[in-house]
Amino acid sequence: MMSKQTEPFRNLRRRSVEERRGSLDEVYSFDREESDATGGQSSLLEIADLMVETAVGSNPLPIGLATNFRIDGLTYNIPMATEEPSVVAAATFAARIVGGSGGFRTYTSEPVMKAQIFLEEASAAAEEILTDRRDEIGSRVDRILSSLKDRGGGFRGLQTRRLARTGVLRVHLLIDVRDAMGANILDTAAEGLRGYLEELTGGRALMSILTNAAYERKTGAAFSLPLERLAHGYRTPLEPTEVARRIVLASEIASEDEERAVTHNKGIMNGISALALATGNDTRALEAASHAWASHGGRYRSLSRYEVREGILEANLELPLAFASVGGAVGFHPATRYCLRILGHPDAKRLARIAAALGLAQNFAALLALVTEGIQRGHMRYHAARVAYAAGARGREIRRVAEALSATGDFSRKKAQSILLSLRDSEESGDKPEAQGIGADQ
Ligand code: MEV
Repeated sequence: MMSKQTEPFRNLRRRSVEERRGSLDEVYSFDREESDATGGQSSLLEIADLMVETAVGSNPLPIGLATNFRIDGLTYNIPMATEEPSVVAAATFAARIVGGSGGFRTYTSEPVMKAQIFLEEASAAAEEILTDRRDEIGSRVDRILSSLKDRGGGFRGLQTRRLARTGVLRVHLLIDVRDAMGANILDTAAEGLRGYLEELTGGRALMSILTNAAYERKTGAAFSLPLERLAHGYRTPLEPTEVARRIVLASEIASEDEERAVTHNKGIMNGISALALATGNDTRALEAASHAWASHGGRYRSLSRYEVREGILEANLELPLAFASVGGAVGFHPATRYCLRILGHPDAKRLARIAAALGLAQNFAALLALVTEGIQRGHMRYHAARVAYAAGARGREIRRVAEALSATGDFSRKKAQSILLSLRDSEESGDKPEAQGIGADQ
């Protein structure tokens, strides 16, 4: 559809969020449903306006609850914000299988992140000078970040390296950011230290910014599943040993074939990013770090590994996870408070561990489906419901139209509209829709 806007929007930034929406309504004639669906309630508009520039609404993704995860001996219900059908159900399904044999074991490192400062034309002795002044640099960082220091975080180390091609000197400040993601903390420290580092090295600071790589902040999850548990609640004609063999082979393929590895890892991030979104964490930072880590050995590989040892399927996942439990949108947006409360207000380390378990669950459920019945059956059920909705079905009509679509195998909107029409006709005439053959070819 062509935009009906004839004049460019001017000064949108200086107008209130309600005025901005008014302008959009004039141009695009949004109806009530569209207004509600974009956070039209004034409390949400106020929050949106405090979070981004030129806010005109919010995009409320569904939050689904993946239930009964056993992680390190505790039970969690995990809120997941995602647009993708089947992801939440798959996580719950994996949690049920794994939970029956001890659940997930997780670990994480201290929340240390790195700020990078790049210095041009630093003297030949710069690296040595900086190493000698490590303690003074650390004290300055801790003075800048005094409240972080009071909370047990602060300076943890210094690294220097002359970049081979550009000759630029790269300085890393390692900082324990406690429960934060760390971007503000690191950028404040790095910008605060620029002048002093220039003085020491005789160089000129080009830029200073955190690295999202977060390789110091790695988190892992694992589970051990006796093979007979693989069959638990899962219908497949294959023997559990054969299912396990296929899962292991699928994981080896994801180690060997880069293009398969991307999809394999995407499945892991289905869980991690959904938890990140639900809790207001930075999904782009998490995704960038994970994919970079997947190629740290010089080739992009799968992040998880599976093997069978003495009749037990052993699964492992390790990746950098810079999750925050405070700061930024985390705890500010009411939806994130809702989700954090469901999780029992975890600290950042606990949240990262939950995320790793969820990522591994998601990966395991995907592999299990892929090497047995495939994933399409689960997906199509939700797809059918969405087609039914888009065709105009509402309330109880949605399920009935979706079932009829699934029965015909034709998931076009046209088909859904015709099914909906005949459903409504038959309801008006008082006939039982079943008797009218809803779902049969019209
Ligand atoms: C779909 O979002 C994720 C999967 O493609 C992951 C995978 O293939 O391992 C099912």
